Amino acid sequence: MRIDILTLFPEMFPGVLGSSILGKAAEKGIVEFHVTNFREYSESKHGTVDDTPYGGGGGMVLKPEPLFRAVEAIAGDTRPRVILMCPQGRPYTQKIAEELAKEEHLVLICGHYEGYDERIRQHLATDEISIGDYVLTGGELAAMVVIDSIVRLQPGALGNETSAVTDSYTTGLLEHPHYTRPAEFRGWKVPDVLLSGHHANIERWRLKESLRRTLERRPELLARIELTEEMRRLLQEIEQEKNTGGHPD
Ligand code: ADE
Repeated sequence: MRIDILTLFPEMFPGVLGSSILGKAAEKGIVEFHVTNFREYSESKHGTVDDTPYGGGGGMVLKPEPLFRAVEAIAGDTRPRVILMCPQGRPYTQKIAEELAKEEHLVLICGHYEGYDERIRQHLATDEISIGDYVLTGGELAAMVVIDSIVRLQPGALGNETSAVTDSYTTGLLEHPHYTRPAEFRGWKVPDVLLSGHHANIERWRLKESLRRTLERRPELLARIELTEEMRRLLQEIEQEKNTGGHPD
């Protein structure tokens, strides 16, 4: 997979793209990152990339020419997905990450401070993505979030192949609690079942705690998945425990 990033602040990227899972994925050749300062594609000798808005008002607007020229130079005859990072975009989810992870080539465009000339949205971008209902100073951090979530889904990127499969959101449920040694810390004990070595009971506990956590924190996620018989039974147990004030831990 190849990921191009168009930004006015390329110096923001080497740390994130060169570290941890992303850095290893690039080293292994699973992904290739190309960070380009689109100021290089400005047609003016001063490297101008923005201008005042038609109709007046404050702020600056990113001009179309540098971004069109940069994307066209990168794409050549190919048609990569061209993703505009912006607060007005489609709210980003694991489902979109899974969809984008299948692409061979992505181009991510990061604006900074300014808005985009509308012709960039209409005739250059294939997608617009927002990572949440808040406004960042630029698309760079948002692009890093999107890249991280996509690269970790590439086969071979995670050391433990199964860990992406049990992720929160991949299963449609939030993850169950995790514990490691010591079995007792400051009087707080690890649930007995996890020390029992009984795998079926452990799996059942994990599923139940995933359901409990999802019900408590993100009940709307439960409505989106198809519940198995076992899940229904466990949810009933959780409801009963709520009524009787009981909780196994
Ligand atoms: N640029 C500024 N804010 C953003 C957001 N929430 N998501 C994506 N890009 C952005």
